[in-house]
Amino acid sequence: MSNTELSLQDKAKQRAGFKAAEYISNGMIVGLGTGSTVAFTMARLKERISAERLSIYGVPTSLQTMMRTGALGIPLVGLEQVQTIDITIDGADQIDSELRLIKGRGAAHVRERIIADASKRIIIVADPSKLCADLTGPIPIEIVPFSLPHVLNRLNQMGGTIQVREGVKKDGPVISDNGNIILDYQPITILDPMQLETVINMIPGVVCCGIFAEFTHKTTVIIGEENGPRIIG
Ligand code: 5RP
Repeated sequence: MSNTELSLQDKAKQRAGFKAAEYISNGMIVGLGTGSTVAFTMARLKERISAERLSIYGVPTSLQTMMRTGALGIPLVGLEQVQTIDITIDGADQIDSELRLIKGRGAAHVRERIIADASKRIIIVADPSKLCADLTGPIPIEIVPFSLPHVLNRLNQMGGTIQVREGVKKDGPVISDNGNIILDYQPITILDPMQLETVINMIPGVVCCGIFAEFTHKTTVIIGEENGPRIIG
């Protein structure tokens, strides 16, 4: 797609995504997140690989990213082949003033959390619409299919509303790369993101939810603002 065909939001994503690619240097192991913003980073990394002979290995967070990087010719390694990941670049759905996140709109947050935890540094790329004073939800939750009635009961007891995420054709639930179901939980309020994350993740059957409150100490956010990328953290 040529640059003139991009929407304003996509241009903002491009500005953030391209800027993040500047943080990558020769020899790095790079966690590659999922979504439309980090896709711009991957496109830019491909250019740097050809133009500068940049030598990196990517660790993908989803089948979508694995296929995208394969098409771009970015070399990949599995988590089992690396000790640590130098930098992970990923997107987010909401980012609060303390750099806590909600992720998982792309149903990839389980692998994204594993890769984030294994990373020395995390760079979150986003357009300005993702910034908020406080996280509000909905919160994606990946669950083991067998646990569906139990998890629904437990979330109902907590209040709010819950939807089983369906595919675009509405012909069945979205199935994650891990073979699980995704719920979208809208709590009444999120007073303490870390506490809510812990409570949801403790429900038997939950693999993990999309609140990422524990990585703020190693997170930098890049927002693709109109007059240039804004770096936070
Ligand atoms: C996938 C994610 C994505 O990073 C998040 O949904 C942002 O996507 P996009 O960059 O397309 O807005 O968490 O699980």
